[in-house]
Amino acid sequence: MPAIAYVNGKFFPIEDAVVSVEDRGFQLGDGIYEVLRTYRGRLHAVEEHMRRLFRSLDAIGLKHSFTAAGLEGIIVEAVKRAGFADSLVYLQITRGATKRAKEFPKDTEPTLVITVRKLELPSAAMREQGVAILTADDIRWQRCDIKTVCLLPNVLVSQQAKAAGCFEALFVEKDGTINECASANIFIVAAGVVATPPLGLRILSGITREEVIALAHKNGVPMQERRVTLDELLAADEVFLTGTTVEVLSIVKVNDRPVGAGKPGLVTQQLHELFRGLAG
Ligand code: PDD
Repeated sequence: MPAIAYVNGKFFPIEDAVVSVEDRGFQLGDGIYEVLRTYRGRLHAVEEHMRRLFRSLDAIGLKHSFTAAGLEGIIVEAVKRAGFADSLVYLQITRGATKRAKEFPKDTEPTLVITVRKLELPSAAMREQGVAILTADDIRWQRCDIKTVCLLPNVLVSQQAKAAGCFEALFVEKDGTINECASANIFIVAAGVVATPPLGLRILSGITREEVIALAHKNGVPMQERRVTLDELLAADEVFLTGTTVEVLSIVKVNDRPVGAGKPGLVTQQLHELFRGLAG
């Protein structure tokens, strides 16, 4: 089954889909995006993703006439056409195609692109053994709460992580505060208490993060949203990340140093099982 794309009203095989060279997403990174997935053909947490998408559009002042129901309808159609059980859905909206100038254009229609491809899941070995991460200075801008396509800092640290044989890179402030990974949120477990950095301008409000926090509260797992330092993480019993494509994934090494017991911990496994109960 082929991966497919939707561009401004039409479906294409993904390799035939194009946008203008004048698109502001391409020229200026002037756009926002969402990443969703399906479980057995059904979209997961679509309302939450739509809410975040509209927050991002508002945050960058992108004028549009999209509705959540309209976008969801297109996504559902795209997922159906692609036909994968586990799909990765990427949706991007930019401020449209027009002569390059940094200020907002007048009367330019936004560009809407949706792609659907087969989802690549973490391998069984990664699930069983956990993954390694690399720490990196948080070189991003001051609005990491917006899911913008301006991802160059994330690109650079992800490449550093890959080159070091690591699965992810963790953004750390100069004062040792940890924020999030390049494509996922971060959690630690110490003495049975789970902690994750609070919402604000320094992290994306991950949908999976919210789901895991809610599951912890519901199931009596102590959970704190608060500042977490790298020292705390290095001394933690368990560390894990959350994200749409990874769900809950154990981290067992940071900068080549084992963390926790060096293998996936029980709280992480419990939260992952609860998550699978909700989503899978
Ligand atoms: N990334 N933080 C960042 C910086 C992210 O890019 C993501 C998701 C998350 C986790 O959010 P969620 O649980 O809603 O997937 C946190 C997507 C998958 C991506 O950029 O591909």
